[in-house]
Amino acid sequence: MTFILRADSITKTFAKEKVINGITLEIEENTFSVLLGPSGSGKSTLLNILSGLLTPSLGTVCHRGKDITALSEEKLAEWKRSFTGNIFQNYLLLNNLNVRENIEIGINKGRDALDFRQLTEILEIDHLLDKFPAHLSGGQQQRVAIARAVIKKPDILFCDEATGSLDEANSKKVVSLLRSLQRAFGITVLFVTHNLQIAETADRIITIKDGRIYKDRYQEDPIQPEEMVWGSI
Ligand SMILES: Nc1ncnc2c1ncn2[C@@H]1O[C@H](COP(=O)(O)OP(=O)(O)OP(=O)(O)O)[C@@H](O)[C@H]1O
Ligand SMILES: [Mg+2]
Repeated sequence: MTFILRADSITKTFAKEKVINGITLEIEENTFSVLLGPSGSGKSTLLNILSGLLTPSLGTVCHRGKDITALSEEKLAEWKRSFTGNIFQNYLLLNNLNVRENIEIGINKGRDALDFRQLTEILEIDHLLDKFPAHLSGGQQQRVAIARAVIKKPDILFCDEATGSLDEANSKKVVSLLRSLQRAFGITVLFVTHNLQIAETADRIITIKDGRIYKDRYQEDPIQPEEMVWGSI
């Protein structure tokens, strides 16, 4: 088993409040893991530390043995550009660019990239390339955001409530597509959610409570995204 990420004794303090309270965690390569937990438990903070968007107050994060918490601002930006993709609840597309241009923003010039046509076909947005975000449904916008995040073939894809604004049908579709992208291209997915059914589709469910790991459960035989019965905590 190869660990792609290793977080060691992570602490994050905001205004004297310890929001992450000593988390040590390893993530295996080419897996789909969920970070589950109540609102305010520290999921986004932890995800942002693992993805290099936030600096921990204490502790280290290593990506394939390289300490990213020790990098200069410039080197960290380069690491993020090269190896990570992010998907958020609010798609964050650029409204003055069409779908094609929004996706192209994600291309890391001079490096390996997924095939644009194949990716847009998988995500079923190939017929929308000339449209602008304002003319797309929420589900379509999120699939464009996924294309933008994965076109560069990131090593790890960080998703924070990526289905939080979507209805049941679109949420299932997004989870199913992310699972396909993980399997097809070996992209490791770390997915923050409140949704217990989405958690049931994961290889591993890491539950966070009060800034600590409360439970950590592996699933040998997770349910298929299509089998989800809707419900949330
Ligand atoms: N930039 C910040 N400054 C101060 N406090 C913060 C900051 N970011 C997060 N917090 C606090 O840290 C705690 C954890 O926040 P976080 O956003 O990680 O929770 P979460 O588990 O993602 O919650 P949710 O499910 O509601 O998104 C909360 O109490 C929050 O108020
Ligand atoms: Mg959050």
